[in-house]
Amino acid sequence: MNALIIGKSGQVAWELQQTCPEHINAKAFGRDDIDITDLANIEKVLSTFKPDVIINASAYTAVDKAESDKENAFLINATAVEYLARVAHNHNIRFIHISTDFVFDGSKNTPYTVNDIPNPINVYGASKLAGEHAIAKYCPDNSTIVRTSWVYSSHGNNFVKTMLRLMTEKDELNVVSDQIGSPTNAKGLAQFLWQLAEQESVEPIYHYSDLGVASWYDFAIAIQEIAYATGKLTTEIPIKPIPSSKYPTPAMRPSFSLLTPCAHAVHWRERLKNNLREFK
Ligand SMILES: NC(=O)c1ccc[n+]([C@@H]2O[C@H](COP(=O)([O-])OP(=O)(O)OC[C@H]3O[C@@H](n4cnc5c(N)ncnc54)[C@H](OP(=O)(O)O)[C@@H]3O)[C@@H](O)[C@H]2O)c1
Repeated sequence: MNALIIGKSGQVAWELQQTCPEHINAKAFGRDDIDITDLANIEKVLSTFKPDVIINASAYTAVDKAESDKENAFLINATAVEYLARVAHNHNIRFIHISTDFVFDGSKNTPYTVNDIPNPINVYGASKLAGEHAIAKYCPDNSTIVRTSWVYSSHGNNFVKTMLRLMTEKDELNVVSDQIGSPTNAKGLAQFLWQLAEQESVEPIYHYSDLGVASWYDFAIAIQEIAYATGKLTTEIPIKPIPSSKYPTPAMRPSFSLLTPCAHAVHWRERLKNNLREFK
């Protein structure tokens, strides 16, 4: 099986390359190898590699920047996704795409199911939802959308890395405690995506996040606890919970974005403990 990973340097794209099963011939293409905003270029690249499956791990992920850069967010998260979906459909290639908990508005207080109606409250979420709609329209049969949340990996930029840095630089930290979700380790997500690549058939939408519930504050506490216990941090600093109102950001974020867990999910703390070892 030939698998084309779109995105090379991103967190999930990198973990896909690390976890690729031996019998799958995978190539990861970055922005220098393929222009996903150009339909003809996608066709050209695919005609040489001939993938059986495309996993789109690229996205405009700068949630706050998207508020003032709507055009580019929609170009990458909606238009480019439409082009990939159209090409996948025309060549009967399975299309696996990653979406986000931020398609929901956070007004529920029980986990979001795949049947819940999205209602994004920021530009990033709206652009990702537009990408989902493009897939449903242009590649409805052999495609799947995997919504995930709060992704981190030892590779790339994420909350865990930021916290570990701040915990060495600052004397104390204030972290938002009124946004609830589930941290998700990109390695486990990548393994789930490979499973979908090989399955005979796929559902239109899956929710995949690690098990359990956390606020960003809980997550920060766990990061420090585990990093200190395993010698990654040599000191511990006070961490205080604050409301989102005390940490204003350009983009609004859902206050609750827990996703229904999938059958084989592992608790986020367990995943964090295992993955922190790989952080430099
Ligand atoms: N991170 C999270 O917390 C989170 C939560 C929920 C869902 N997701 C979804 O999970 C997926 C993977 O996220 P991630 O955390 O791995 O993202 P990431 O680390 O920010 O990586 C995004 C990748 O997209 C690539 N990209 C951006 N614009 C591009 C363009 N014009 N052409 C080609 N490539 C482009 C980037 O390439 P460059 O490095 O060259 O810019 C980068 O490799 C995305 O669909 C995201 O929406 C993420």
